[in-house]
Amino acid sequence: MVLNRRTFGALAGSAALGLSLGGSGGVGAAATAPAGPATGPPGADGRAHTVGFDRYSLLVDGGRVVLWSGEVHPFRLPSPSLWRDVLQKLRAYGYNAVSVYVAWNYHSPAPGSYDFTGVRDLGLFLRTAAETGLYVILRPGPYINAEVDAGGFPGWLTATPGTARTSDPAYLSYVDEWLTAVNRIAVRHLYTRGSGTVVLYQLENEYANHVTAPEGRAYMAHLYAKVRADGVDVPLFHNDKGRNGYWTPGSFDTGGERGRWLYAFDGYPSPSRTPPDWGHFGPGGTKGGSTASPGTPGFLAEFGGGWFDPWGGVEFGGKGYAESRRTRDAAYERRFYLTNLANGITIHNVYMTFGGTSWGWLPAPVVYTSYDYGAALDEARRPTAKLVPMHQIGHLLQSVPELAALDRAEDIDAGGGPGLRTYHLVHPDTRAHVCVLRNDTSAEITAALPLAGTTVRVPVPGHDARLLATGISLGARTLRYSTAQPMLRLTTGRQDITVFTGRAGEATRTALECAGEPSVTVLEGTARHTYEDGALRVDAGLGGLTRVLVEGGGVARPLLLLLADDDTSVRLWRRDTPSGAVLVYGPALLRTASLRGTTAHLTGDTVDEADLEVWAPRGVGEVVWNGVAQAVRPTRCGGLRAVRRLPGAGPVRLPALTGWRRREENPESAAGFDDSAWRVADLTSSYSTTPVPAGGPVLFADDYGFHYGDVWYRGRFEGAAGAGSVSLAYVTGTQGLLMAWLDGKPLGTHRMPVPDKDTVRKGTWSATATFPVAAQAPGPHVLSVLVRRMQHDEDGRANDTHKAGRGLASVTFDVGVDGAPPSVRWRIQGETAADPVRGPLNSGGLYGERQGWHLPGFADGDWQAAALPRADRRQGVVWYRTRFRLAVDPGTDASIGLALTDDPARAYRVQIFLNGWNMGQYINDVGPQHTFVLPNGVLDTRGTNTLALAVLADGTTASGPGKAELTLLGRAAGGVPVAPVHSPGRAG
Ligand code: GAL
Repeated sequence: MVLNRRTFGALAGSAALGLSLGGSGGVGAAATAPAGPATGPPGADGRAHTVGFDRYSLLVDGGRVVLWSGEVHPFRLPSPSLWRDVLQKLRAYGYNAVSVYVAWNYHSPAPGSYDFTGVRDLGLFLRTAAETGLYVILRPGPYINAEVDAGGFPGWLTATPGTARTSDPAYLSYVDEWLTAVNRIAVRHLYTRGSGTVVLYQLENEYANHVTAPEGRAYMAHLYAKVRADGVDVPLFHNDKGRNGYWTPGSFDTGGERGRWLYAFDGYPSPSRTPPDWGHFGPGGTKGGSTASPGTPGFLAEFGGGWFDPWGGVEFGGKGYAESRRTRDAAYERRFYLTNLANGITIHNVYMTFGGTSWGWLPAPVVYTSYDYGAALDEARRPTAKLVPMHQIGHLLQSVPELAALDRAEDIDAGGGPGLRTYHLVHPDTRAHVCVLRNDTSAEITAALPLAGTTVRVPVPGHDARLLATGISLGARTLRYSTAQPMLRLTTGRQDITVFTGRAGEATRTALECAGEPSVTVLEGTARHTYEDGALRVDAGLGGLTRVLVEGGGVARPLLLLLADDDTSVRLWRRDTPSGAVLVYGPALLRTASLRGTTAHLTGDTVDEADLEVWAPRGVGEVVWNGVAQAVRPTRCGGLRAVRRLPGAGPVRLPALTGWRRREENPESAAGFDDSAWRVADLTSSYSTTPVPAGGPVLFADDYGFHYGDVWYRGRFEGAAGAGSVSLAYVTGTQGLLMAWLDGKPLGTHRMPVPDKDTVRKGTWSATATFPVAAQAPGPHVLSVLVRRMQHDEDGRANDTHKAGRGLASVTFDVGVDGAPPSVRWRIQGETAADPVRGPLNSGGLYGERQGWHLPGFADGDWQAAALPRADRRQGVVWYRTRFRLAVDPGTDASIGLALTDDPARAYRVQIFLNGWNMGQYINDVGPQHTFVLPNGVLDTRGTNTLALAVLADGTTASGPGKAELTLLGRAAGGVPVAPVHSPGRAG
């Protein structure tokens, strides 16, 4: 049979499959736009660009681009130098875009005050993304959710009139203030202007509650008009909370502007589910997700790349983010993401790709400090095995332009029973075919694809998937088929190079169209080859790197066929430079590649010793790695190999944490404490959505301008001689607590119950703590109350719950039937003015924080010397401080954490300050987090650091700290230069 290489029908080769060999299989019109990206990697190149789209994909300067994006939050990595590290890793592992929320609360300590400096330098982040060659999807809210305090709304917004997330003019006036500030930066980084790489911009976030209501539509129309008026001219979109068809083009007023609005949606399917279909293979109809908006490309604004873990570790059975990563592993990514691509998704953002740290008071009450998320890059910036599929698919999308415009083709039955799902797609112009095979069972299924008159068996491991292609260009030759997944191709030097991948140990067969019989040399590994029916067939088992050189056969340019198993595929780095494409093999990471004269200058990381081999354009004969010239010799397959292996990372020694100093605080609990400077709590009305208990003043902290961390109350009263108990009603987020003292004596502590999986997402926790009080002398008396209120609710449903009260609500005395309840005069004190460098979310209202005990320059010489572990038994706050010196080799990128461990029965929590930066909260008897990542830059890896621990204990058990030690989370030779993060000794 003469095969027509242009159809998947040829691949399938069986009339029984109902495929016509010459048939189109496609349903759509020709994708007339150029098949491939119009430009190389984007940058701030000073030229004007256009960003448009059609139903298949984005069109950048008229050329198709698939956005393969990862979500990263600059505000979850408070060390701007490390932004470059993370972005370079994204780029190296095949992403071409980064999606970025901007959190309003992070930038705004007060109305009218917007700060984009230091760790909040959004412009620097966007500049770094452009320098790294990544497109940017910008998502500045104003509401973002993101498991951050109040969903990103600033604390001060809780004490303003107006209903948030609607067209209420009072709310919109604040929104406009924010948008003006953030858009001033955004417009400086638009790709359209050539001054940055922002190509898409999101309005609001999963706005589902007012979709048809006038105040919802008017709100979206307002945001649209405002963002346009501010000069943002790239396409705008919203992320529908699921494929509901909400906010499709035409669903609200865009001021007469058409064709500049994209429909996008989010998906977080459970990994145990069958991956859902939408787009090409979905049920269609108005609620059909991307089919709800047939004129715009399939766009997943967020698709689960992990999942968050609430306090107590209830999501993952206490196992933390390791379990998130295990349940959404590399096979999960292949199954779900390849399904997305098969469904016509060409803008695909993985939330999160680097989760980072919800440091300070940034986390929403539901989550603890680590926002590792089980993402492909972990919180310590280490690559994980989840990068393997991202790398393979990302490079594939950049190498095979047809993947930007695929139509559904005739269904193929690849056998395997109902557990095997087969997607069949075709490019309408080139007729290249793509097939995704997905196994929804736990046992391996062998798909039986009739190929060239024979049946080729393709193993699909349980709960896994793979992509096959036919008819795609490999340069001067064309792929007939391969049972391995294509990963990348390039032409460099005198040859084409193409890489196919799969699981180690798999048998693969790759067939290339060859008009004449070529000469074949197996340069590494074991491979057999035959020439038949105009095709070269190479059979090889996957293990390490198999190299097969194909020459002649009527084609002038040789082809180097590389077959790489998974681990090897992430040692292969392709880079496009203005002088041509480069492929590097060996090191753990390639950060940059540039060609100058005859030299390839490369930077990157090694962990262990590594080989280095480089394929570069003709004329390049020298290689410099991290600034060091390498002796190289040419290889038989056209590369340059370093004669000596690259060194691995050297050892990193961490000191023990000793020399602690200790000081008790909470003088506020003492009867005689001078609170005359505190704010009198005398308001009678609140902005809160929580009703103010009758008869009392407002006690919610936000109404008095205290928005973050702990808050103190002191109430004075006379009488209450007959009182048997006092009840204190209070409202917090998850993990809130209240402790009280009467006339300096502890009354006790009340904690909100530790939530379970069902209750943990409830935004507001309210409870009443009742403490017995012994018979009291007539007075005067002082009731001191400390509330750890945790943070504000996220307001995910757009009903203003970020304004739910936080702090004390009321006090009542049980004075019996005859007694008269005393009247209490309250004063309140929370955090002092926001730290101008570390930002508004850094510190709360503990005495030590108000006095600067967390700051590195604080003089603690008169504090008591102490050794850990401790076993104190005291209700209140005790601080511990120490200093330690690090001397990490400057060429080593060490990721260092602080690990706290103790007997889990001990009821206490610790606020961790490194050089004044609030690195998060440890709750010893709730967990599950024990290790806190200390980001380099905040951490001085070549100098002295100050660690301060504020321990809050209820006194019912002995309290620590127990063990506190530095721990090495990862190390690599290479990294990026890290500038110290400004850490002044004192706020102000
Ligand atoms: C999405 C939301 C994100 C984040 C995510 C879960 O629904 O848009 O902001 O909250 O869920 O991590």
